[in-house]
Amino acid sequence: MSTTTSQQYTGKLAVIYPGQDDSLPFQQLAERLGVPLYPSLNDRTPEEFFLTRRNGCLKLLDKELLKKGGLTVDIEPRNGEQRSWPAPKDGALAQALGRKTKTVIDATTGWGQDSLHIFRMGYELLCIERSPVMAELLADGFARLAQQDWMQRLNLRPPLLLQGNAIDLLADLENPPDCIYLDPMFPPKRKKSALAKKSMMVLRDLLGDDQDKEQLFEAALKAAEKRVVVKSPDYAEPLGGKPSQSFQGKLLRYDVYLKS
Ligand SMILES: C[S@@+](CC[C@H](N)C(=O)[O-])C[C@H]1O[C@@H](n2cnc3c(N)ncnc32)[C@H](O)[C@@H]1O
Repeated sequence: MSTTTSQQYTGKLAVIYPGQDDSLPFQQLAERLGVPLYPSLNDRTPEEFFLTRRNGCLKLLDKELLKKGGLTVDIEPRNGEQRSWPAPKDGALAQALGRKTKTVIDATTGWGQDSLHIFRMGYELLCIERSPVMAELLADGFARLAQQDWMQRLNLRPPLLLQGNAIDLLADLENPPDCIYLDPMFPPKRKKSALAKKSMMVLRDLLGDDQDKEQLFEAALKAAEKRVVVKSPDYAEPLGGKPSQSFQGKLLRYDVYLKS
């Protein structure tokens, strides 16, 4: 993973050193992100978000989560997903990716939940994430994935992760993938949706909506060999105009744009 020093989190995010482990990795993390390092958790700090390690995982917390577990990249299969590898390529996501697709780039990796689903179905996957904080959480999640028994037994490596803006990175690809997958942040239908997951609410509070999703779509359409798949909430207009195909999930849609 490449890292960028960033001023974007100043006053918003801090790293917390939990006290038991070697402090150097925490200092280095704080330096990479350009944010303060605090020796303990308390709710008097001006920042709203915190990164720390708990139970062997890098975790993102807001003040509401300080005394609870915190958010981490969850590497366990989702409910209803088969635990074998490769898991069967069924369901709306696999239909949208396409039967002949082998290589996929997830250009908006976020919490990695779609990426990990795609990876577990056996596609060859490259992940891109522009937020340096999310990239740190993903790198930690992928490192934990590499340690799983089933990964080692099958001699599998976690997906490669690039940190940066996919609009630029997709323009410089050496090998175009069959499919580019996009799940940018759309404005919510209502200000606070009871259905929104805490992890997505924190992501929105930390990063805001993705204002440049149209440019990202254009970059993806140029760079993909065969198709672009856009995941949208069911209330949102299709990002790239009328799609070639659309597959309905629960409260969401996968719009597929085929390249002729
Ligand atoms: C809605 S989240 C994706 C959630 C993800 N599909 C999951 O399963 O966890 C959108 C993510 O895309 C990232 N993103 C948006 N535009 C991007 C771009 N141009 N390049 C790289 N990452 C981008 C945001 O930083 C955010 O983390």
